[in-house]
Amino acid sequence: ITHFIISFILAYVFGSMPFGYWIGRLFFKKNILQLGSGNIGTTNTFRVLGTKAGVAVLILDILKGSVGASMAMIWGPAPAWTHMVVGLGAILGHTFSMWIGFKGGKAVATSMGVLLTYNPLLFVVAFAIFLTVILLTSMVSMASMIGFTLVSLISIFWLHDWLLSVIAVALTIFVFYRHRENIVRIKNGTESLVHFGFGYWR
Ligand code: G3P
Repeated sequence: ITHFIISFILAYVFGSMPFGYWIGRLFFKKNILQLGSGNIGTTNTFRVLGTKAGVAVLILDILKGSVGASMAMIWGPAPAWTHMVVGLGAILGHTFSMWIGFKGGKAVATSMGVLLTYNPLLFVVAFAIFLTVILLTSMVSMASMIGFTLVSLISIFWLHDWLLSVIAVALTIFVFYRHRENIVRIKNGTESLVHFGFGYWR
C-alpha cells in the first residue's frame, strides 16, 4: 500500500505539470488562463498560442497521463488495473494542479494518456472517434464529451471491463461537468469552432 501511495503521488506530480500554461508563459509571455477559454489544455493552447505549441501540449499532456499511469510499474511488474488507478493520480494532477492554485484542465488529453498505457488499442479507437467528431461538428468540446461517452459504452457493453467501465463513467460525468461552460456555448451557438488545419473561426 505504501508503494501504491508513492506511485499515486508521483503520478499526481507528473499530471500536475501545466504544460499549456508553462509554454505560454515561457515562450509567448502569455497567460493562457486569461485568454481564449481560459483552459490550460491542448485546445486552448492551439487557439491562443498556435499550432506548434498546441501539438507540443497535446503530446506532453497525453504523455504525462501515460507516464503517470506507468508509475504503477516502478516497483516491478504490476497488474493492469493498478495502471488505471495510479493513472487517476495524473488526471487529478492535471485537473487540480498544485502549480496554478489547484485549478486545471478538463481531463481529456491526460485521461487519453492513461488509456494509452492501460489499453493502447482502445486509445486508438477513442482517438479516431474524437477526430471524427471534430471533423463532423468542428467542436473539440463536443468531441471530448462524445468520445468519453462512447469509450464508457464500449467498455460496458463490449469489453465487459468493469474497472474501466466504472472509471470511464465517473470520468465522463466529470468531463461533462468540466465542460459546463462549453455546453452553455453549444446551446447558444457560440462555441468556438475549429476547421481542419486547426484555424479557429471564432
Ligand atoms: O481539451 C478540452 C476541450 O474539450 C475543450 O477546450 O478550450 O474549447 O474549452 P476549450
